[in-house]
Amino acid sequence: MKFFVDTAEIDAIAELNDLGMVDGVTTNPSLIKKSGRDIIEVTKEICDLVDGPVSAEVTATDADTMIAEGRKLVEIAENIAVKVPLTWDGLKACKTLSDDGHMVNVTLCFSVNQAILAAKAGATFISPFIGRLDDINLDGMELIEDIRTVYDNYGYDTQILAASIRSVNHIADSARIGADVITAPPAVIKAMVNHPLTDKGLAAFLSDIKAAEIKIL
Ligand code: G3P
Repeated sequence: MKFFVDTAEIDAIAELNDLGMVDGVTTNPSLIKKSGRDIIEVTKEICDLVDGPVSAEVTATDADTMIAEGRKLVEIAENIAVKVPLTWDGLKACKTLSDDGHMVNVTLCFSVNQAILAAKAGATFISPFIGRLDDINLDGMELIEDIRTVYDNYGYDTQILAASIRSVNHIADSARIGADVITAPPAVIKAMVNHPLTDKGLAAFLSDIKAAEIKIL
């Protein structure tokens, strides 16, 4: 399973990247706003840091302007994936940009039918938003499962990028289902290490180390 980090915060990306935990990065307008940085500048810095795909989202809603923005974004670096919304115009932009040989991430996916359209339009990644479905009492994970089934039925090679991940359980469940990629905030990825039995076990070992004065160096 590939890990993308869902942030535009350089320090957080660098910390996880140094541990080999970063296969790519996703950003969106809200994350760019949160960073307080210029989109082109911060995206370039991220691309310099990370080898894998870095998603940068268009701002337009009509296909022609999305395509023009996408063509500007891919000039930033070779590893840019242009992110377009799952609208009819977004699909048109996806088709043109993917035909031109660029990676495209189709975002804001909330149904299996939308995911089929994105695959047919040549999307490199489809981003179903798990957390936002859970927010309205639907089952985000069920959508990941459905898309996996349908993509496998027809051999679509669009990668399922489970997005809007809010918890460590979303990551484990996405892995069980076979999502190709998860994108999660740095804090959620770091929380994967937590287990109370690890803490309890380590406390007991530390107590025995002290009692027996065990020294290695
Ligand atoms: O990758 C999409 C993600 O940033 C959206 O997450 O938590 O705003 O629904 P959230």
